[in-house]
Amino acid sequence: VSLAHLFLGERVRPGDRVVDATCGRGRDTLRLARLVGPTGRVLGFDIQEDALAATRELLEREGCLDRVELMAASHERLAELVVPPLHAAVFNLGYLPGGDRNVITRPAATLAALDGAFRLLVPGGRIVVALYPGHDGGLEESLAVVAWGGQIPARAAAVWHCTPVNRPPDTPQLLVVEKRG
Ligand SMILES: C[S@@+](CC[C@H](N)C(=O)[O-])C[C@H]1O[C@@H](n2cnc3c(N)ncnc32)[C@H](O)[C@@H]1O
Repeated sequence: VSLAHLFLGERVRPGDRVVDATCGRGRDTLRLARLVGPTGRVLGFDIQEDALAATRELLEREGCLDRVELMAASHERLAELVVPPLHAAVFNLGYLPGGDRNVITRPAATLAALDGAFRLLVPGGRIVVALYPGHDGGLEESLAVVAWGGQIPARAAAVWHCTPVNRPPDTPQLLVVEKRG
């Protein structure tokens, strides 16, 4: 998460329009809300009411709800619901910590959302994806996302796969996409 925030913090500026594709308990949403400031806009997606309620509560407590719109919708609909320009998007895949472990992000929806986000992204914009190969279904999804990143032509984006080399292979990883101008 801290590495994801580092990649976002380096690029996201006050006034930007950004997406949290998986709000969960709202930590990434809050980070984005602080980065874009009161003149920016964060659109947050989640399919679980619990997650959206936790996110709303955190943003309210931290005084950042004014710049955030929360959608009870699958991120598959990202391209339809996001009004460009899009400066950055974060995906934190897997299941809601402390929630139902059967509700997980799924490759088909994740890839559809990534496609949509990449299309709307401004040149220089970033997509950051936290991958969790350690849970049931997580490896399949992680491989699918890395393969998705790998098929983007180098002239269209720089794509990094950040993976620790001194920890087990099911340790969380990051995919970072930066669209070229
Ligand atoms: C790992 S959690 C996100 C953690 C969160 N970013 C945080 O900072 O607390 C993954 C979230 O993705 C959500 N999710 C699963 N499938 C989804 C979908 N198709 N569209 C949007 N959110 C989805 C789950 O409900 C869960 O809350």
